[in-house]
Amino acid sequence: MSLSLFTTTLFLLLLLQEASSAIPIIPVNATCHNTCGTIPVKYPFGTAFGCGHPAFSRYIKCNFGSLQYTTRSGTYTITSIDYPTNTVIATDPFMSNCSEMQNSGSFTLDKTSPFTLAKENIFVLLGCSTTSPVFDSTQDFCDTGSGSRVCRGLYSCKGVTGLGLPQNAPTSTCCVYDYPTGLGLDYSLDLPKLQCSSYTSVYEFGDEGDPMKWKFGVSLLYNDSYYSDSCKDCEGSGGLCGFDSMDESFACFCRNGANTTTNCFGQGYAWSGTSGLKIQTLLTIGGLLLSWILPLVQC
Ligand SMILES: *[C@@H]1O[C@H](CO)[C@@H](O)[C@H](O)[C@H]1NC(C)=O
Ligand SMILES: *[C@@H]1O[C@H](CO)[C@@H](O)[C@H](O)[C@H]1NC(C)=O
Ligand SMILES: *[C@@H]1O[C@H](CO)[C@@H](O)[C@H](O)[C@H]1NC(C)=O
Ligand SMILES: *[C@@H]1O[C@H](CO)[C@@H](O)[C@H](O)[C@H]1NC(C)=O
Repeated sequence: MSLSLFTTTLFLLLLLQEASSAIPIIPVNATCHNTCGTIPVKYPFGTAFGCGHPAFSRYIKCNFGSLQYTTRSGTYTITSIDYPTNTVIATDPFMSNCSEMQNSGSFTLDKTSPFTLAKENIFVLLGCSTTSPVFDSTQDFCDTGSGSRVCRGLYSCKGVTGLGLPQNAPTSTCCVYDYPTGLGLDYSLDLPKLQCSSYTSVYEFGDEGDPMKWKFGVSLLYNDSYYSDSCKDCEGSGGLCGFDSMDESFACFCRNGANTTTNCFGQGYAWSGTSGLKIQTLLTIGGLLLSWILPLVQC
């Protein structure tokens, strides 16, 4: 008797614990956040579909504390956003840097996305075949001036062995592809087509002599003409701007989980009590079950 009572109680307790620990994982659509991991997320960016501007929401999402930018060629991590200059730094997990070089995939910036390459950004193609179209002498794809210094710098990195090249190998397989609009590719770095094994992107040279100190990542500019008066009104009332996923009309998400088409004034200010309510419901159901089961096991 007491053993079965004990096991029943234990079972119910486990069940409750399981259920309540699972609650925070239940996705709540209408919840937009103003940070993703350590990155402040402001309009037109958003942390989930329905947050921010629809033109950005298609490409940007917060996935387990990491702000991600997805294009046709892959998913990149946004490591910083500089709002005053409309600049985003994205890194590709497969691109090379001085400490680690590896075979990369291609890089494509969707034409319809609100991002363009920043001018200070340079792409470097690494480990290319000497028959690569980038070395076509009738075209000027590779920067052979300051570019060769960048290539020498990168080929002096220990990481270059990751591409099967010895350190300080001749730079004839490296190309600084200044602004990749050549080859009719439009912001697309198609490595198989270019016959290169890897790429890297440098957006800041800092202490130019030491490639370990260069800043690797793709620097992108975003179109900031989306910030509307409706959004300013919403933010001014403590809300976060988003949109209705059905018709993409403007929506303002308030801290209590409510949404409006205008602002959050008069909408209540507390954060959503939804998960608290769910725990309470589960406890009630649990208590109810216990009160039913206890008399049963006792007789
Ligand atoms: C809620 O999220 C699900 C999946 O994440 C999605 O399919 C659905 O359209 C969203 N609903 C709203 C109202 O945004
Ligand atoms: C270099 O690339 C590797 C592999 O993508 C990454 O783990 C590492 O953080 C990068 N290092 C720097 C300094 O960017
Ligand atoms: C920015 O977006 C607006 C539409 O919101 C568009 O009219 C404008 O041409 C875009 N600017 C650039 C530089 O893409
Ligand atoms: C706004 O809230 C209503 C009621 O909770 C919900 O049906 C609707 O889907 C929400 N709209 C958005 C854009 O999330």
